[in-house]
Amino acid sequence: MSETALRILPHTEEGVAEGAHLITNGDLVAFPTETVYGLGADARNGRAVAAIYDTKGRPSFNPLIVHVADLSAAREIAEFSPQAHLLARLFWPGPLTLVLPLHEGHGLSSLVTAGLATVALRVPVHPAAQALLHAVGGPVAAPSANLSGRISPTTAAHVNKGLRGKSVGVLDAGPCTVGLESTIVAPGHPPRLLRAGGTPVEEIERALSMPLASAGEGISAPGQLSSHYAPAQKVRLNAAAPTSDEVFLGFGPMDATLNLSTAGDLSEAAANLFDYLHRLDEADAPIAVAPIPDKGLGRAINDRLRRAAAPRSSSGAPGV
Ligand code: TXA
Ligand code: MG
Repeated sequence: MSETALRILPHTEEGVAEGAHLITNGDLVAFPTETVYGLGADARNGRAVAAIYDTKGRPSFNPLIVHVADLSAAREIAEFSPQAHLLARLFWPGPLTLVLPLHEGHGLSSLVTAGLATVALRVPVHPAAQALLHAVGGPVAAPSANLSGRISPTTAAHVNKGLRGKSVGVLDAGPCTVGLESTIVAPGHPPRLLRAGGTPVEEIERALSMPLASAGEGISAPGQLSSHYAPAQKVRLNAAAPTSDEVFLGFGPMDATLNLSTAGDLSEAAANLFDYLHRLDEADAPIAVAPIPDKGLGRAINDRLRRAAAPRSSSGAPGV
């Protein structure tokens, strides 16, 4: 891979249009928000979302934050309770992310949500992010635009330094003002704080006239908070072939109930992973999984599969 500098797009009408064009085409564009620079991809395109994990070198598939231009775009994707609506009205656009139940027909790639029934949504206030989201006209998944385990970037130069040599455009609109990721809240009874960040917790509590519970409070069953979809069925890994009572999740050229990628392409496999696990889970039979090479995105796929195959506690929750 060449170590060339990233393609810098200026914060002009042309630069924004080009960034939007790249995203719509399934490419990655780093863009500024008020918190940090995000590494953006079309949230409906599983291959593009897989490229985010690949580019960051993330060893696991955490669900990603989905960025939209405004509340009405957010309502097309998720369900807003009165409490969620109040928070959105008061803090959007701005550094607050809300975790909300997905609507039927939301259109997001299951890789964005890690197969969950909820989605983390955010409406950034930064004018360059706003311009890009309007130009894309659809949801953009974006974690911070750094290599996994490194410091979040707050300038285009940081992004360039961290992701040099990768196939990524960067919309450069100067330094971020907040410099710290968004606060993440899951509305509900009680509302829960999932991550402290750019919107002060006190302001949210004042708006709701109640304290935010910490992520673990009020949770009865262990594993309920596990941020990954876990199949109800037993999962057997590195299977050369299924037994007669198993369904088979294949990889590469082979017969299988469902095949993550007959071509053996790890990006395609990542894009299909959660959707196929859901579908096989519905078959009501134990799931055997073909070996997946443990390199590149294969490491994240195997991490996820190991969690799916981990012994269950008595509540049926994954024992992670
Ligand atoms: O400031 C920010 O929020 C930045 C900028 C780029 O917008 N974005 C960011 O995104 O930090 P990301 O994708 O790295 O944040 C992911 C975090 C996960 O670690 C997880 O805690 C939470 O969002 N998350 C996402 N979906 C979730 C879900 N369905 N349930 C619970 N937590 C979720
Ligand atoms: Mg990050």
